[in-house]
Amino acid sequence: MVHPGLEAIAAEEIAETLGGEVKKSGLGIVVFRLADIDRDVLNLRTTEDVFLLAWGTDELSYRAVDLERMRRWTDKDADWARLLQIHHGIRPKPKGRPTYRLVVQKSGTHAYRRVDARKALARGLTGKLPASWNHAEENAAVEIWLTIQGATAICGLRLSDRSMRHRTYKVEHFPASLRPTLAAAMVRLADLKPMQTILDPLCGAGTILAEAALATRGRHLHSVGGEGSHSLPSPWGRGVGGEGPGGWNLTLLGGDIEPRHVHFAEANLRKLASVQLSTWDARDLPLEGASVDRIICNPPFGKQLSSPGEIGPLYRALVREWDRALKKRGRVVVLVAEASEIKGAAQSAGWRQLRQVGVRILGQRAVILVYRKD
Ligand SMILES: C[S@@+](CC[C@H](N)C(=O)[O-])C[C@H]1O[C@@H](n2cnc3c(N)ncnc32)[C@H](O)[C@@H]1O
Repeated sequence: MVHPGLEAIAAEEIAETLGGEVKKSGLGIVVFRLADIDRDVLNLRTTEDVFLLAWGTDELSYRAVDLERMRRWTDKDADWARLLQIHHGIRPKPKGRPTYRLVVQKSGTHAYRRVDARKALARGLTGKLPASWNHAEENAAVEIWLTIQGATAICGLRLSDRSMRHRTYKVEHFPASLRPTLAAAMVRLADLKPMQTILDPLCGAGTILAEAALATRGRHLHSVGGEGSHSLPSPWGRGVGGEGPGGWNLTLLGGDIEPRHVHFAEANLRKLASVQLSTWDARDLPLEGASVDRIICNPPFGKQLSSPGEIGPLYRALVREWDRALKKRGRVVVLVAEASEIKGAAQSAGWRQLRQVGVRILGQRAVILVYRKD
């Protein structure tokens, strides 16, 4: 499961880091196959949750007959014993009697309620889980999820836990702070290279810089031909980006106009990476011209400012300053709701747009734009 809009970026991460074969993606879901599955699957950074697929369909009729079909698919189409075996291999069984939980999510207008779908799922599971297991609403060892969206239903065994979407480093948060999976997607789009200087000039609680540090941690560099080109196919897990001769040696810079937010960023980044953080106005950065390789950032949206009219002048001033700080062929990855303002400013700066990814944030349409300074 991914944040809606990030399907293509998650599919790229799955293929590149796990060698996964992506079968289908859309509606916040990416279905993929792995030759071998191990704990590396829990190190994906752009996904909200990872499941073992039990069954799926795109052909719900919206009618009540679907309930019996869902019961039957749960009963007959999934090899629960095998799924549980894989699950225990990745998430060892806790001591004592295991607990399980059923989670059903439903969007769309169907001739049945969510609780009816839950009953159908429970009936289909009869005899599939050991009789000694108890149902638990909190901290269950095994979670079986059924997600129904319009004509699509997908049922699976959850491998991840809440730390995949919330991250353990994020000890400080404020309402406009970015979701870590979105920050990770922006970092992927920035296409980081070793020795680069990465800047988040409006860093808030530092989520983007944290994801930049984590994206390179334990990932070995492999030259793949072209000058300066590196692929990132190796598994995650060991080492620290920036350490050792084959390390990334990134310089991470961040700042914010709010001293309180800079403290949040310090707290979140303390255990992850050494980051130079400052309190500053991103329209007038204390940085040399042409000194930064990547700028990754989400400036305030209109509704976060005292007047929406401030957005145009703010974004134009930011782009002018970023253009000064950015090296030639540097990249900017920016997440905004008001795309036209930033696009106009980027055009005036002569930046080339490489990619545009639509996402929704708190119910609002937003866009991640990727630019290169040519
Ligand atoms: C949407 S938040 C960024 C959230 C951040 N990416 C995170 O994950 O926490 C926008 C941030 O821009 C900061 N800000 C607004 N105007 C600024 C300016 N002129 N210079 C620097 N920071 C600014 C705000 O204080 C806020 O922390």
